[in-house]
Amino acid sequence: MARIAHLSDIHFGANDPDIVAATIAWLKEKQPDLVIISGDLTQRAREQQFRDAAAYLQALRQNGHRLLVVPGNHDVPLYDILRRFISPLGRYKRHISDELCPWAETDEAAILGINTARSLTIKDGRINEEQMQLIRQRFRGVAANKSRILVTHHPLFELPIGHGNELSEAVGRHEDALKAIADAGIHLTLAGHFHRTYAEAASKMVKDAGPILVIQAGTATSTRLRNQEPQSFNWLHVEQGDRMELQVIVWNGKDFQRASHVGFALEQGQWQSEDLATQPVAKDNMRSAQIQS
Ligand SMILES: [Fe+2]
Ligand SMILES: [Fe+2]
Repeated sequence: MARIAHLSDIHFGANDPDIVAATIAWLKEKQPDLVIISGDLTQRAREQQFRDAAAYLQALRQNGHRLLVVPGNHDVPLYDILRRFISPLGRYKRHISDELCPWAETDEAAILGINTARSLTIKDGRINEEQMQLIRQRFRGVAANKSRILVTHHPLFELPIGHGNELSEAVGRHEDALKAIADAGIHLTLAGHFHRTYAEAASKMVKDAGPILVIQAGTATSTRLRNQEPQSFNWLHVEQGDRMELQVIVWNGKDFQRASHVGFALEQGQWQSEDLATQPVAKDNMRSAQIQS
């Protein structure tokens, strides 16, 4: 079983230092096999924000964590037009990593990150032909008993977690992307961007998706919340592609606390879910993250 922590939207420049410190402590105690950060490391792609994000990643590495990180739309400068178009991810590459589509493999899982942040779109993501080829190619040699996981900042297709509960935007060329991930035999896609937690079988939202489970992380540390959903991250236990457990770890104003806990099993090509136990978040006026299942 692979134990994976999935954090997203950490937004240095608009985050809470106490929550940042609490993520470091939580991860140090649990020692996951892999820590995934699915984009938006900074608030405005400023130099100091990237320095702070890099120091955070360094602190995690020093605690022995293996990391897989992809950029988000906030990691491309918004107001610095020249930099936005000439070198949209220059600072990201300098401070965080020059690998925009990172790969990690453990004994139980193979994980590919794909960069969906672009300078031509302000907040929507895109995926290109070369990246779709990479998805097909990377997973080709992976052992059949491993979980195949794809990480992006933007969810690949519309989810009912846009403003209010409207459908969100889709990544450009998402139909082609769906074909690529079906060809690659992906079991699980992990993304962020909406600062809202969500989990659902892809087949319930789009046609021809194949047996893919979609899991979204909230923001781990940003002070900018959507729908008053508190800061959170996902704690995943993944087994051989056909069984997963998701526990949402939610900030209650003082500590990170275990909240929704859902099990997923792939049965006859369909993901079935089971509510394992949901503990209410301690703080009275804060609701626990809702996991749709
Ligand atoms: Fe974000
Ligand atoms: Fe974003």
